[in-house]
Amino acid sequence: MQVKSTLGDSIAGFSTTELIAKKRDGEELPPAEIGRLVEGFVSGEITDYQMSAFAMAVYFQGMTPSETTALTLAMRDSGEVVDLSGIQGIKVDKHSTGGVGDKISICLAPLVAACGVPLPMISGRGLGHTGGTLDKLEAIPGFHVALSTDAYVRQIHQIGCALIGQTADIVPADKRLYALRDVTATVESIPLIVSSILSKKLAAGVDALVLDVKVGRGAFMKTLEDARRLARLLVQVGTLAGKNISAVLTDMDAPLGNAVGNALETREAFEVLLGRGPEDVRELTLVLGVEMLLLGNVESSEARARKRLEQALVRGRAATKMEEIIKAQHGDPRVVREHDRLPAAPHLIEVTSTQSGYVTRLDAFEVGQCSVALGAGRNQIDDEVDPAVGIELKKHVGDRVEVGTSLAVLHVRDCTHAAKTLNRIQTAYTIGTHRNASQTRVLEYVRE
Ligand code: URA
Repeated sequence: MQVKSTLGDSIAGFSTTELIAKKRDGEELPPAEIGRLVEGFVSGEITDYQMSAFAMAVYFQGMTPSETTALTLAMRDSGEVVDLSGIQGIKVDKHSTGGVGDKISICLAPLVAACGVPLPMISGRGLGHTGGTLDKLEAIPGFHVALSTDAYVRQIHQIGCALIGQTADIVPADKRLYALRDVTATVESIPLIVSSILSKKLAAGVDALVLDVKVGRGAFMKTLEDARRLARLLVQVGTLAGKNISAVLTDMDAPLGNAVGNALETREAFEVLLGRGPEDVRELTLVLGVEMLLLGNVESSEARARKRLEQALVRGRAATKMEEIIKAQHGDPRVVREHDRLPAAPHLIEVTSTQSGYVTRLDAFEVGQCSVALGAGRNQIDDEVDPAVGIELKKHVGDRVEVGTSLAVLHVRDCTHAAKTLNRIQTAYTIGTHRNASQTRVLEYVRE
C-alpha cells in the first residue's frame, strides 16, 4: 500500500484534512471538493491513509444524493469514458448486485439485443460466494472477454451487443478505492457502493440502466430495508447523473435456478434462450427484459414489451443473437445448442436427503460457499476458477422429499475433497413438516 508522509494535505488551497474532518462531523461537501479529492487520490497527491479515513467518515456519516452524484461523476472521469453516441438508439445495460446461480445476464443480453435495444455490457468476475458473469462466459471454449474499446464499440454497432470485462482504463479510481475499502471494513457503505457501481456503468457509455438489487442470505444486502435504501440511492443518483434508471428488488435467499458453477450456469442460460430452462430464471429474465425494453423506448407498455421478448425466445432470435455474439468474440457458437461442447467435470456425486418432509429453506450463501470450495469461485481476486465444477440442485423450497431422495448433484474434479461439501449441501437444505407457500423472486420495483 502506498504511504506518503508529507503530501496530500494541501493541494492548491484545498485541505484534505479539513475535508475529512467536515465529513467526519457530518457536513455536506460541495461537489468541487469531492472532485478534487478523487483527482488528488488518482494522481497520488492524496495518500491511501487519507482516502481510507475519508471512506470511514462516509461509512459513519453517509452522503447525500448530491454528494454521491459528485463522487460518482468524479470517479467516472478518473479514466476513459466510452463514447457510444455514434450508435443509434438508447443504450441500455443491466447490473445485478450479485447472487448465487445468477446467470441472468447471459440470457438477458442477447434476448434484449434481439429485440432491438443496443446493449453494452461490462461485467465482473465472481468473488466470495457470488459468481461473476465473466467467469461464466469464459466457460465457452475460445470466448474472449477482453476486447479493446474500439472493438467493443464496433461490435455493439454491428450486432447490437458486446459482453466484456472492465478494462484497466475504465474508472481507475474505483479499483484503488475498492482495494482500500476491502481492507478497512468500509465496503458496506451504501453511498460508496452506489458510486462504485454507477461510475463504471456511466464510463461504459450507457444511456439507461436496470438494476437487479438482490436481497437475502446469498446477497450483499441481507435485509429488505438495506436493499431498498441501496436501490433508492442508485435510482436517485443515476437520475441526477442524467440517466434513465430503474431497479427491481429480487429475492436471493435461495439460489436462482438449478445450476451453480460456471459452465453449468452458462448451459442453463442457453436453455432459457432455447425456450426452456427453470421457471424462476426465465421469469426474472423476462421481468428485467421488460424494464430494459421500456427504458430503451422500443415498446411503450409492459404487456407489449413482454410479448416482444417472448416472441424473440419462441422464434429463436435470442438464441441466434447469442451465437452471433459468441462468434464475434472468438468463441464456439455451437455451444448454444450443443451443450456437451461446454467443459464437464469428470465426477458426479449425488447428495441425498437424510429426512422426509418439505424443503422449507435452501441457503444460497451455503450453496455459494460450497461452489467456491469445489473450485467454481474464488476467495482471492487472483484465484483461478474451474469452469466445469459446480452444483446441480434437484430440489427447491416447497418440494416434497423422502429419506434417500436426490437433493443435488456435485460436479467435481477431485472426489477426495467432496465429502465435506456433500455434508454442507445436505445442511444447506432445511426440511420441515409443512409446505411453505412458494416465494416470488420479484419483491418490489423502484422507479424515479
Ligand atoms: N459492486 C461494485 O461494483 N462495487 C461495490 O462497491 C460493491 C459491489
